[in-house]
This record gives sequence, structure tokens and C-alpha cells, in this order.
Amino acid sequence: MDDLKARYLTQIAEAEDESALEAIRIAAVGKKGEVALRMRELGKMTPEERQAAGPALNALKDEINSALAARKAALADAALDERLRAEWLDVTLPARGRRQGTIHPISQVTEEVTAIFADMGFAVAEGPQIESDWYNFDALNIPGHHPARAEMDTFYTHRAEGDDRPPHVLRTHTSPVQIRAMQDQGAPIRVIAPGRVYRADYDMTHTPMFHQVEGMAIDRDISMANLKWVLEEFVKAFFEVDDVELRFRASHFPFTEPSAEVDIRCSWESGTLKVGEGDDWLEILGSGMMHPKVLEAGNIDPAEWQGFAFGMGIDRIAMLKYGIPDLRAFFDSDLRWLRHYGFAALDVPTLRGGLSR
Ligand code: DAH
Repeated sequence: MDDLKARYLTQIAEAEDESALEAIRIAAVGKKGEVALRMRELGKMTPEERQAAGPALNALKDEINSALAARKAALADAALDERLRAEWLDVTLPARGRRQGTIHPISQVTEEVTAIFADMGFAVAEGPQIESDWYNFDALNIPGHHPARAEMDTFYTHRAEGDDRPPHVLRTHTSPVQIRAMQDQGAPIRVIAPGRVYRADYDMTHTPMFHQVEGMAIDRDISMANLKWVLEEFVKAFFEVDDVELRFRASHFPFTEPSAEVDIRCSWESGTLKVGEGDDWLEILGSGMMHPKVLEAGNIDPAEWQGFAFGMGIDRIAMLKYGIPDLRAFFDSDLRWLRHYGFAALDVPTLRGGLSR
């Protein structure tokens, strides 16, 4: 019995993991283990022998069981120690400033625009980037044969053979969000809708994906004067200047009547843009009074309500404000460019705290 005990206690002490321990347990004190076999032999013994061997076997069984439990606990402790050593982390180390990410200029400018319009009571509305051609075109008074459809270099999705519903499009502008916001919220309403738009075009100043922000205000007596004031406030706040001069040039968009393109007075002295002075004009957006058919498409009665709308290129105003020469660099994911033009992650633009500082 001493042999038996020595053998199993050694095996237990040398067991490397739980499954090894379990194998030893079955061999030693399992139902058909060695201790059980010995117990069966008790019947063949004389009463005296049995009286000595019985308690000794029970004691051996207890001793093996507690050695198993102790070894199991020791293995678990060792595993935990090992994990703590491997996953150790010094939380007192200072942050590595140079490796911190930056906010992309597009995100920054979107936040700036949102902060400025929020201050004038505009909420943010959103719509899908894959849009039905009804929302992208028809509802905006751009019928099937209209040249604007062709001009927009539209990306169409594919329909299955024999499915002759019109295909969906990647939205070519943020204007369809006008329709969705009207349908969802009714009038009066004041929203902007920043987001991605898509056109099949690629050169220094065009990328197939770019960003616009749509603006829309509908009430009983909204006029061009409201549009002009809102845009002036916006341009002053955005370019962080005290005075601006806007020029409204008559234009044409199917979804507005009358329509105007808006230029801002600027100078380009030694290659840097100055807003509010000089003899140059810079086109920044399209706008107008919302066409009655567009209001109707949004389930709003044009006899009762009227509104203005505008659409502006976010990438373009970002390039202008931050002196970024090539639009395509926005989407190259070049870390050196991102470090140079990016913004500190914690500087959230607000009108009180400063937009870009
Ligand atoms: N959707 C036009 C574009 O992408 C921009 C635009 C012009 C939007 C006039 C408007 C607007 O809301 O009134 O070129």
C-alpha cells in the first residue's frame, strides 16, 4: 500500500495539466481504479486483516483525493500568474502623442457646418446613399428626359434580368434628403443634411465619391431674404471673418424657382484665399426657393408653405478654408497628409469655443 501511495503521489506532483490529473484520478480512485480493486479484495481477507486494511485503504483514498485537489488548485494559480504576467500593462505610461490619430478635414468641416447651422435652429437629417431614382430625380422635378440626369454622371445599380423596375442609383446629391425630411417631419421644418454623394467623374477637382451639405427651411412666409441672411451668417462664421459680401447670380435648378448660385467676394493674393475682400468671386453653392412640385413630393401643400433650399460641396469649402490644393488627397489615406491636415481629436468645433482652434 505504501508503494501504491508513493507512485500516485509522485504522478500527481508531476502532472502538468488538468487532463493529466483526471487520468490519474480515474486510474487511482475511480470506480474501477486500483484502490477500488483492492477494496474488492477485502472480502477474501480474515476479519483481522480486514480490520487493518479497510481503514488504511479509505485513508489512502482520502489522501490521493486531497493531493489531486491541491495539485489542481496549484495548476490554476500558476495559470493565473502566467496570464497576469503576460497581460501586464503599465497604465501610468504617458500617451504617445505623435502616434495619436487626427480628425479628417472632411469630418472637421462637417462638424463646423453642423455647429453653425445648429446655432440657427437647423437639425441634421439623413438619407440613404443608395437611393431610388424617384427620390434622387423625379421627386426633385427632374423627369426622365431632363438633361440634369445625364449631366450628373450617375452610378446605377444592376437589376436582375427581366426586372424592369428602374434601377436604384448612388445618390448624386444630398437633395433627395429634402424629400425624405419633408415626408418624415412635415412643415415647418429647418434641416441640413450632410453626407456622401457619388458621380462618375475623376480629376484634380472631382472624385467619384464626395460630400455635400443640403439645407432647407420651410415655413409660411420664408423668402429669399431669409436665405440670404442665413447664408451670410454661415459664410462669416465658417470662414471666421467679420464681414462678407455675397453675390446671388441667377441660375437654374429643376428643384428651385427662382434659383441662384452664390459667390463670395475674395482675394487670392500670393496664392492664399482671403474671404470678404478683393476683386475675385468664388462660387460656393446653389440655392433657391423650393419648387411647388418638390414641396408636393414631400407631402407639403405649396399653397400654405414655402421654403428655401441650398446645396454646397463640403470638400470644396474644406479645400478653400484650409488651403488644401488637391481634392484627391482627401481620399488617399496617406498618413503624412492626415497628420499635416488633420485636427486634434479632442477639439470639437463649437461657436463659443472656436470652430477651428
Ligand atoms: N443638388 C444640387 C447639385 O448637386 C445643388 C443644389 C442646388 C441644391 C440648388 C439645392 C439647391 O438645394 O436649391 O448640384
